[in-house]
Amino acid sequence: MDSRFEILPRHVGVIMDGNGRWAKKRGLPRGEGHKAGARVFREITKYARRIGIEYITYYAFSTENWNRPKEEIDGIMELFREYLFESEERLDENEQEGMQVRFIGEKAGLPEDIVALMARAEQETSTASDIVVNLAINYGGQAEIAHSARELAAAVARGELKPEEITPDQIAQHLYTAGQPPLDLVIRPSGEYRLSNFMIWQAAYAEFWYSDVLWPDFTPADFDRAMFDFAKRNRRFGGV
Ligand code: FPP
Repeated sequence: MDSRFEILPRHVGVIMDGNGRWAKKRGLPRGEGHKAGARVFREITKYARRIGIEYITYYAFSTENWNRPKEEIDGIMELFREYLFESEERLDENEQEGMQVRFIGEKAGLPEDIVALMARAEQETSTASDIVVNLAINYGGQAEIAHSARELAAAVARGELKPEEITPDQIAQHLYTAGQPPLDLVIRPSGEYRLSNFMIWQAAYAEFWYSDVLWPDFTPADFDRAMFDFAKRNRRFGGV
């Protein structure tokens, strides 16, 4: 761990917000904001790994984002493609960097080539162990809990599980993040104070940190501020 930090969150969630406003301020199309946002995603991920964050989850595309203009959606999908190709090309470097990439969200509805590239990236980085990077794509927290409930209901129907055996732990084990620790900290830039259906189960006891900085302007120094503020908070988990 970086010696400047005595306490670090194990799992950080990031809602990458403000790309559109960043572009508008510069008289650019919204897609340019997402491009800049994707660059910041790469930079912050590298930085998080360097300081010793074990898990980081980004909200990249929500189930509600399909309501945006087609051109904007296509642009975001193209950024995912570029990132996936790039990780393929730089696999050695990726492994060196120890990044395990995982995708959370519904695969159905996404372009087939992207789903195939996602599966490959997950498989090829599955043994990397410095940091787990979850990308939430076509993701909604309520849909994720429903997905877990369906799997448990199917187990009940098969006679493998009794309804009274369903515990919060069981539900967590059937989320996309099964096996990962819950979120300790959620970072939301760009001045909004909402969770927006992001990791609503995993964020149950998370600290919330917000900033007015738009995501494309977010820097490692902002990330540090979030880390230092987190270290100062007194987490009681419902106790006293
Ligand atoms: C929210 O900002 C951002 C999104 C809906 C898209 C986020 C996607 C990226 C940053 C690209 C990610 C790429 C990779 C490779 C992970 P907004 O458009 O709602 O901003 P606004 O509120 O200012 O309009």
